[in-house]
Amino acid sequence: MNLPLPLTPDPAPVITIDGPSASGKGTVAERVASLLGFHFLDSGALYRLTALSAMKSGVALDDEARVGELAVALPATFRDGAVWLADENVSEAIRAETVGEGASKVAALPAVRAALLDRQRAYRQAPGLVADGRDMGTVIFPDAVAKVFLTASAEARAERRYKQLIGKGNSASLAALVADMQARDARDTARSVAPLKPAPDALFLDTTEMDVESAVRAVLDYYASCDARNKL
Ligand code: DC
Repeated sequence: MNLPLPLTPDPAPVITIDGPSASGKGTVAERVASLLGFHFLDSGALYRLTALSAMKSGVALDDEARVGELAVALPATFRDGAVWLADENVSEAIRAETVGEGASKVAALPAVRAALLDRQRAYRQAPGLVADGRDMGTVIFPDAVAKVFLTASAEARAERRYKQLIGKGNSASLAALVADMQARDARDTARSVAPLKPAPDALFLDTTEMDVESAVRAVLDYYASCDARNKL
């Protein structure tokens, strides 16, 4: 007698948005998640939190074993619209350029990437997830229903970051930001584990000449077309 196979529920749909620093993918991903009523994962924040945690405890950013231990036990939470490291609201602190630099360094350590893998996958919950990062479509959610690689020229990205910094009353040099952007892109692209690269099945979206609203619309339209194709 053939028994019916138990029904396993379909996993929640995932939209991945990968791309280089300051490409605007975070803003676009958050907006898409909110319009669809999906959860949102800012995976870069986890690498930033790991770097900040190492910096606070005086652990060298290239000490793979110790930084890996910090990542395993990372007391990180996202609540009330803020990012917390244990009891400390670090929403502002993790956005500092030094912490972004540190994040790019610890993100190259295989022990750190392994430590953060399950934590990232746990965000996949109904009704769906929009995940933003570097390896969301290639490593963390290879079965995502829609994958986007969102980029812009290094100059355009540096200019966006420059306006953000000046807007917050910080001083900044555009030339230094372009150089930083290129150095970080090179490190994120050249590392041996989970390098920054488009998934072969990703939509390539160059936003150099595009505003946020048009980019959000392009991602939503793409998701709708992938979703319709899946239901055929
Ligand atoms: O997206 P972001 O600028 O907050 O990311 C900070 C650093 O973390 C970035 O330089 C590369 C790294 N990162 C990564 O390696 N993999 C991810 N999925 C997200 C970020």
